[in-house]
Amino acid sequence: MEEIVLAYGRYKDLHHTASLSEKIRILHQVIRQDFSYIDRVAVALFDRNMNTLKTFVQSAKDLPLQFYECLMDNAPSLMEIKARKKSRLVNDMSVFENGTHEHTKKIAANGYQASYSVPLFDSRAFIGMLFFNSYQKNVFLEQDLAKLDLYAQLVNSLVVNKLQSTQMLLGTFRSCLSLVSYKDPETGNHLERMARYARLIARELAKQGNPGLSDEIIETLFMFAPLHDIGKIGIPDSILLKPGKLDEDEWQIMQTHSAKGREIIDAVAQHLGLKSFDHISLLQNISGSHHETIDGKGYPNRLKQDEIPIETQIVSVADIFDALTSHRSYKPAWSNEKAFEELKRLSGTKLNSDCVRTLIENEPAVKEIQKQFSDDPE
Ligand code: C2E
Ligand code: SIN
Ligand code: SIN
Ligand code: FE
Ligand code: FE
Repeated sequence: MEEIVLAYGRYKDLHHTASLSEKIRILHQVIRQDFSYIDRVAVALFDRNMNTLKTFVQSAKDLPLQFYECLMDNAPSLMEIKARKKSRLVNDMSVFENGTHEHTKKIAANGYQASYSVPLFDSRAFIGMLFFNSYQKNVFLEQDLAKLDLYAQLVNSLVVNKLQSTQMLLGTFRSCLSLVSYKDPETGNHLERMARYARLIARELAKQGNPGLSDEIIETLFMFAPLHDIGKIGIPDSILLKPGKLDEDEWQIMQTHSAKGREIIDAVAQHLGLKSFDHISLLQNISGSHHETIDGKGYPNRLKQDEIPIETQIVSVADIFDALTSHRSYKPAWSNEKAFEELKRLSGTKLNSDCVRTLIENEPAVKEIQKQFSDDPE
């Protein structure tokens, strides 16, 4: 009996509402009991639209590749693994010494000498790669691979499960938006741009050492940012679409959109049985708190400073910057210069100054996003 209890105890954390990062970390510990030479377990996700592979979660002492994205075309070896649907063992990474790509160099520069790479699939669709790396060369034995493949299947299921719950949530919210004939005044590419500004800020803050922003959080933030104003489906069109300034009563109603958003998300999550979905709180915070300001004078709850989660502060800056630089029924589009001046004015009192500074410092990337997702018909 004791054996069984112990065995269960060893894996029970996998069932709890841990994030995928945490699950991979636990699994890595378990794998090390069999194969002590495995020093890194990493999952990179495939982005079909961009044809890129981006770092997602990893368990390692060092974190050699973070916030990193590479074009599949620049990684012929990964293309081959994807095409042939076969894993690849490289027991001595020095074979890559000449003419390799940035990601492999970074892995090698951190002292990794061997790698076993396994493609991940959802049914037939390629969804990403799993990497097992070791600091030692020639340690992966032929007979170990069968068991490693089994672990890889487990990781595959965890990743698919995570992607499917996210897809289900996003799909449901998109259906909500279209069913309620939601005439969003924030038309065009507002949501595309603001999600990318949010990711840009988050990645830069993470590189500057913000410990709360892992790849997993950043990607989830990117997916959820466009839902920040979902509560506006509960605002009457006469207010939402009003050309010109809102009167005091209208403004009071408009302000309820963030609390309404949170209620909608709570209800949907409950109906879908996703109450314990690992990042539901991220979505709740983004929709419910994106109009809180750090001086405690925002709405609906007058949260202050660190009471507002960093992801939400990031979304506020991204949203406001795009609102300022876009045409609205109540205002013309501002230039980037004017919008940056306005953000600086709000910085430190209303908005997180690191987020504002980071966005402004990355003007070239901002312009690139504006070019790619412009609202001009041509
Ligand atoms: P929105 O248009 O997406 O704007 C998002 C946020 O960007 C605003 O949140 C505000 O923080 C910022 N913002 C937008 N335009 C300006 C501006 O000209 N100056 C400054 N300093 N900040 C700006 P806020 O104020 O909480 O408004 C929330 C939503 O309420 C807006 O979302 C919009 O849908 C609506 N709204 C706000 N004011 C008016 C208005 O005068 N007329 C109409 N029709 N709607 C308004
Ligand atoms: C990675 O480990 O994240 C990619 C490096 C490789 O191609 O082995
Ligand atoms: C904000 O809501 O963050 C800024 C509103 C303002 O002070 O103009
Ligand atoms: Fe809003
Ligand atoms: Fe918005």
